[in-house]
Amino acid sequence: MQYGHFDAPAREYIITRPDTPAPWANYLGSPAYGAIISNNAGGYSFVKSGAAGRLIRYRFNEQDRPGRYIYLRDDESGDYWSASWQPVGKDLDQYRSVCRHGTGYTVMEADYKDMRSEASYYVPMDADHEVWRLKLTNTGAAARKISVFGFVEFTCESFYEQDQVNLQYTQFITRTYFKDQFILQTINENCLNAVNESRVDTRFFGLAGVPVTSYCGDRAAFLGGYRDYGNPVSVEKGRLDGTLNYNLNPCGALHAALTLKPGESVSLVFLLGQKRETEAQALIARYEESGLPDQEINDLKTYWHGKLANLKVETPDENFNHMVNTWNAYQCFITFNWSRAASLVYCGQRNGYGYRDTVQDIQGIIHLDPEMALEKLKFMISAQVNHGGALPLVKYNHNPGHEDKPEDASYRTETGHPSYRADDALWLFPTVWKYITETGNIALLDEEIPYADSGTDTLYKHLDKAIDFSLNHLGIHGLPAGLHADWNDCLRLGANGVSVFVAFQLYYAFEIMIRCARHKGDAATEKRMNELKKKFGAIIEEYCWDTDRFVRGITERDEVVGKPGDPEASLWLNPQSWSIISGFAPQERGKAVMDLVYRQLNTTYGARIMAPSYRRHAFDGALALLFNPSTKENGGIFLQTQGWLILAEALLGRGGRAFEYYLESCPAAQNPIAQTRLQEPYVYSQFTESVDSPFEGRSHVHWLTGTASTVMVGCVEGILGLRPDIHGLRLSPAVPASWKSFTMEKTFRGKKLRIQVQNPQGRESGCRKLTVNGVEMKDNYIPASVLKAENEVVLEM
Ligand code: GLC
Repeated sequence: MQYGHFDAPAREYIITRPDTPAPWANYLGSPAYGAIISNNAGGYSFVKSGAAGRLIRYRFNEQDRPGRYIYLRDDESGDYWSASWQPVGKDLDQYRSVCRHGTGYTVMEADYKDMRSEASYYVPMDADHEVWRLKLTNTGAAARKISVFGFVEFTCESFYEQDQVNLQYTQFITRTYFKDQFILQTINENCLNAVNESRVDTRFFGLAGVPVTSYCGDRAAFLGGYRDYGNPVSVEKGRLDGTLNYNLNPCGALHAALTLKPGESVSLVFLLGQKRETEAQALIARYEESGLPDQEINDLKTYWHGKLANLKVETPDENFNHMVNTWNAYQCFITFNWSRAASLVYCGQRNGYGYRDTVQDIQGIIHLDPEMALEKLKFMISAQVNHGGALPLVKYNHNPGHEDKPEDASYRTETGHPSYRADDALWLFPTVWKYITETGNIALLDEEIPYADSGTDTLYKHLDKAIDFSLNHLGIHGLPAGLHADWNDCLRLGANGVSVFVAFQLYYAFEIMIRCARHKGDAATEKRMNELKKKFGAIIEEYCWDTDRFVRGITERDEVVGKPGDPEASLWLNPQSWSIISGFAPQERGKAVMDLVYRQLNTTYGARIMAPSYRRHAFDGALALLFNPSTKENGGIFLQTQGWLILAEALLGRGGRAFEYYLESCPAAQNPIAQTRLQEPYVYSQFTESVDSPFEGRSHVHWLTGTASTVMVGCVEGILGLRPDIHGLRLSPAVPASWKSFTMEKTFRGKKLRIQVQNPQGRESGCRKLTVNGVEMKDNYIPASVLKAENEVVLEM
């Protein structure tokens, strides 16, 4: 069943059936003021932190309530509805609704009994307040008396958890006031400054464009006893009773009674934010100018569409185009901005960036906005400890040079991270390399960047130390130790047990270091790295290969994880794909292991992280056992791994296979089976339940997942084959044989490239001829030096 479709030129996803199988959300704002909104206006807002700066309530895992509600009431008949289908939930035979999720804004359109409403929700660029603009049109032949009610449920205090559970305290620190055009909420108003943890805050909910007819600042008075958001007594009555909150639960509710002639439209604006009284007043006054919201929404489009325009593809596959051009790219920016902080699943409790998560997230935007990527990349490098390891969790207020580290009890207590993970710092290699090759900014290697705890070094030295960290943490057979975990949170391989995934990451790191050293003319390092690469290559060969596959690890007790014949978890995806990505496995062997993956791990919805799932035969550190079979790390389709799978097949030149995997887990391609998948067809989830589950194909943990960036890299570098190096750009598309031609427009180092790929022979990869502005190149490589401001590139496969 289909609930909506893509509008490619507008870069919107349009939901035409509001009864989606799950709340389908969008992100508004920036980490300074963030808002999440579902297609039924459920969701919440916060200043800086979902957990510590929560403005409005949202009850997780509970029917998508409450949210940013606008109620409409016919004052003659008493009938009422809402500008989003929920919370009132009118009969869909009579209530027509469309929700348009766009880049940084969401619009709800509704038609009900000759009234048309259009509610646009957004946070203006660089602002710390949000806007709900309502346009109301009388589409009937008779004049109408309509009441509009805006409603928001404030938290009693900014700490989300306290607001939810510490009721004997939080319910008695707040009150609301009415000030002409707004409800003002104060928290701890008798205090001048924070007392203990409790902060002094003021929030407001205001109305601009039309006068307030009645108001209410108390949730109980607004809703009435034994009622719900779907049938508030005050909306039913058509008037708010002016009750203000003094203890218990505050809210902001404002009512405007309007009369609309046939064909007449009115526009009004509700505003919400954490502001002082005078600031709120000034802001509301600004929105008396009715053109402002259109201008502000346009600014958002200009900003986002501008960023997204740096790569535009037109391939024969519409779903691929929707994702690469807009939605996967937009999701990459969202994960880049928000890490794993706040969604309808993450409550905002994680107070910082997961090291590996963010360093990987950065990869997803490098091809679109390398300079934005660079800022965060440097920030993450400054969270590397002086011995080369990385802080597993980097606090939002990270203070380079002064941070505690996992060796310190204080860090462990504060972050809950007991020790180092084996992979964290190694993610710097692909990310730094991507940035350098996208931009040509090799000088970055010489830039001084501080360490988290003390001291500073050039980036080049930081990378060297990341390698040292791994070399100083080797387990049995001299392979990299698994430590607290590697990329897989559920593998506790410990200080002596070893990770084959990390071995491949390290192997790849040597290669990147060799390239950097060569470029710098640092022969000693180049030689050392070459020797290390050879040495570890031999160890991998000896201990990480069994019969027909790369194993996943070796435990402290010398048990091999992931060998043929094991009753459970006998084949793991990541070591196979990474044997290719790391450059370790040559073509033929790579193809053989990937064929094994295809036979044993692939399913309708993607390849499983491993199989069979753990039930009875897990080793001691195999935490995946905690999950039901075919779920998450226990044999589920952990979607982040699909990006590596796609990349690996593309690197092997097998475009057909790469694209087959792509489509299996592509959200847009699953638009017609939204009911199975549940999640938004425009964003990736963390995982999909697989064959052991009675709900095969159901996906979970929307938006904030590393899937966004790995799949993006799988598409850009893999399928599209845009592979820059220091001096230019190599074009190595790996596409299905059925793609007879496609085009790409790419901004590369400030230059425009219009690339036409022709594939008359129906190949899956390879280049027969490449011309740039009519001049034939030696092979499939474009030296940056030949590029002009605008370039016509033709590649014949
Ligand atoms: C989650 C974590 C990530 C981890 C992955 C696999 O996505 O955020 O850090 O690598 O799970 O366990």
